[in-house]
Amino acid sequence: MVTHQHQTERAGDKISLWEATSELGELNPLRENTRADVCVVGAGIAGLSVAYRLAVRERRSVVVLDDGLIGRGMTGRTTAHIVNALDDRFYELEKLHGEEGSRLAAKSHTAAIDFVEGVVREEKIECEFERLDGYLFEPPNEPVENLRKEFEACRRAGLPVEWVDRAPMEGFDTGPAIRFPNQAQFHPLHYLRGVASAIERAGGRIFTGTRAFDVQGGDDAHVTTRDGFTVHAQSVAVCSNTPINDRYVIHTKQSPYTTYVIGLRVPKGSVTRALFWDTAEHAGQEDTWVGMVPYHYVRLASGVGDEEILVVGGEDHKTGQADDFEARYQNLEDWTRVRFPSAQEVVFRWSGQVMEPTDGLGFIGRNPGDKPNVYIATGDSGNGITHGTIAGMLIPDLILGRGNPWATVYDPSRMSLRAGGDFAKENLNVGRQYSDYMRGGDVASADEIQPGDGAVLRHGLRKVAAYRDPSGTLHEMTAVCPHLKCIVHWNGNEKTWDCPCHGSRFDAMGHVMNGPSVHDLEPVIGSE
Ligand SMILES: Cc1cc2nc3c(=O)[nH]c(=O)nc-3n(C[C@H](O)[C@H](O)[C@H](O)COP(=O)(O)OP(=O)(O)OC[C@H]3O[C@@H](n4cnc5c(N)ncnc54)[C@H](O)[C@@H]3O)c2cc1C
Ligand code: FES
Repeated sequence: MVTHQHQTERAGDKISLWEATSELGELNPLRENTRADVCVVGAGIAGLSVAYRLAVRERRSVVVLDDGLIGRGMTGRTTAHIVNALDDRFYELEKLHGEEGSRLAAKSHTAAIDFVEGVVREEKIECEFERLDGYLFEPPNEPVENLRKEFEACRRAGLPVEWVDRAPMEGFDTGPAIRFPNQAQFHPLHYLRGVASAIERAGGRIFTGTRAFDVQGGDDAHVTTRDGFTVHAQSVAVCSNTPINDRYVIHTKQSPYTTYVIGLRVPKGSVTRALFWDTAEHAGQEDTWVGMVPYHYVRLASGVGDEEILVVGGEDHKTGQADDFEARYQNLEDWTRVRFPSAQEVVFRWSGQVMEPTDGLGFIGRNPGDKPNVYIATGDSGNGITHGTIAGMLIPDLILGRGNPWATVYDPSRMSLRAGGDFAKENLNVGRQYSDYMRGGDVASADEIQPGDGAVLRHGLRKVAAYRDPSGTLHEMTAVCPHLKCIVHWNGNEKTWDCPCHGSRFDAMGHVMNGPSVHDLEPVIGSE
């Protein structure tokens, strides 16, 4: 059997701060058929949280499969604010899920922070876990009514928030802010390494470099890998960030957004240790941004010696629907320099993808598109660290047949009628992407593609994804996404092919890195 080649080290060309400061680990592919109580697909925060609870706390036998290395999906690209201050705003959650739903969201995310803290303590994981305050404020010259609304809604949700005159940014007056006490942050890859070790100590088996190709539910639930092996299990938890086992349903209820991060050196102590978020709305084209609020998000991380790294994110757009990444990084830098005058040079730039649910909460539970015994965790927006941890509490309860008070609010089969506007807009946006078939190529001929770059070409009626590697060799693949046949777009920032419809992403050579597709882009026969 052949173990297929794929990009395993990270989910893009740019290296995140966490990837740069942790060991890669080695691939450990599955090489035989096997059996376990539960098979988990995906070794990010969601998959490993599910596996941890089942293997370590419930003593079940668990097999985890990951296409790449542990944590090298979006958990390696996150900024790891661990919070109950949800991006999608509590006043919106109240509208969509009612006051009780909003309270359950607040409670479950608070419990997730506590769960992470408990794991860190029990397993003695050195991952710079730290409790700290978070501050939410409006951009300059914006009225504070929405902030006030959010404050009241947070109170109704049971969060102990405080209204303060300004966030503690020394060089910049933010105006009034909401203080969220007892939030947290950590180094996500160091945390996952500790969790993975605990799973293995408890007898759990983690296979990396192993792509799950097919998932079947029912009494004989099983996962088949690309290399042709089968894992039989009583239950399967698909935690592949976006489900690889669901063709339509979930993908109409969530949308992929690309978000950008920079890391700048700052002298130690020059920035208050806190999390900062504004409520900035998108200034650009409505087409590349439908339902979400691409605010700025800021934290500190360890640097070398007398410095720290200020990590600033934002500038989101729908995946595959913008190619102005230089301008977006520059916007982030400009925004930062005004607010944090002690910031020195930019030492990190990276991006990643979040799955934005149309009604603001993750989809965690039984997969509506499958036979029984198959569970999913997805739709976690910019709160995936806590959503993934909630999956680690909720999915094991469902598997073990125990009641869980959060089951309904996160139920993947829910359909919030009140989210109908965003649902329709997002799906219209997806529909529009099919007009790519009618367009010309990005460039007239492959000669225009520089080494290390890619572009979509038109060959007669066909669309071709062409990548010229650094040595000058051209590689041509079909540009048709294997999921539901949208045309992929070249992402010059991360050197990936990104699907603008449901977020499948492929490395430069066409190997799939992110679902829903499990298939690579087909090579075009006869390319150079
Ligand atoms: C730039 C950025 C900043 C963010 N900031 C925050 C933040 O501050 N706070 C927060 O809470 N959230 C944040 N998020 C969101 C959060 O990081 C993610 O939602 C979360 O890490 C997703 O975890 P996951 O386990 O679901 O997915 P992943 O970490 O992507 O894990 C999924 C795994 O599944 C594997 N996989 C995929 N397909 C297959 C297959 N077919 N077979 C086998 N394995 C497969 C992948 O290799 C991957 O390792 C941010 C995200 C980004 C991109
Ligand atoms: S991800 Fe659905 S068509 Fe590409």
